Amino acid sequence: MDGKVYIVGAGPGGLDLLTKRAEKVLKEADVILYDELIGDDLKKFLKETKAELIDVGKRAGKHKKRQDEINRLLVEYAKRGKKVVRLKGGDPFVFGRGGEEAEFLAEHGITFEVVPGISSAIAVPAYAGIPITHRAFDPAVVFITGREARERLNWEALAKLNATIVILMGVSTLRKNVERLLKHGKDPNTPVAIIERGCTKDQRVIVAPLKEIADVAEKGGVKAPAVIVIGDVVKLRDKLAKFLRFDEYDGGDS
Ligand SMILES: C[S@@+](CC[C@H](N)C(=O)[O-])C[C@H]1O[C@@H](n2cnc3c(N)ncnc32)[C@H](O)[C@@H]1O
Repeated sequence: MDGKVYIVGAGPGGLDLLTKRAEKVLKEADVILYDELIGDDLKKFLKETKAELIDVGKRAGKHKKRQDEINRLLVEYAKRGKKVVRLKGGDPFVFGRGGEEAEFLAEHGITFEVVPGISSAIAVPAYAGIPITHRAFDPAVVFITGREARERLNWEALAKLNATIVILMGVSTLRKNVERLLKHGKDPNTPVAIIERGCTKDQRVIVAPLKEIADVAEKGGVKAPAVIVIGDVVKLRDKLAKFLRFDEYDGGDS
């Protein structure tokens, strides 16, 4: 009999933000294929499970395991009757290719389940003292990927929309994307926060107006992974971060 694949969200970093369902599924798994973006305590937890662990985010030479190879492994293990976990950072269906994996499994007749995770798109700003919605500010939030959005996104519409913009995978394309927003009329004084390694003890937060953020980020040596928040809600951080204390982290003031 075929096994089953669980496409599981690991949350944005610490073990504390793993869901109970994810914890249960991981403890019962025969095989776990996991990504790069996972915190050390989670890796330690994985080692304590009975599962065979496969690091598909590990770079052999410069290349990660390719998506088609990961898809093939998921099907192969499931066909051997295994309980397979595909563990991904944050939520598997938020810029995580979980949708592509689910499609592949369905095409190959493999039963699967999705275990949603806490997405970095929401949790990382929250840990930095930025509620991505607030009634006093923009009435919408738009999540975009900094990488693929370049050609496919309507930047003009985005610049004109009164929405908070949250960008994932946006560090290397920050300058270009800021230029696009400014060119289409976004207010140059709109506050921007870049939160590096959010929800971990190494969290760092950088805040500057849209017109200056690319220079400030370059000077500060900002590196991925980072979540970028563009919008007036960023102003709330001044008020909230002073009193925001996590038991395990210092709140990442820079
Ligand atoms: C391939 S996407 C995966 C997103 C994931 N599925 C989610 O829901 O969080 C990777 C991007 O997520 C963001 N990210 C994930 N974890 C993060 C963290 N702890 N701190 C900052 N950004 C993070 C970064 O923008 C990174 O480039």
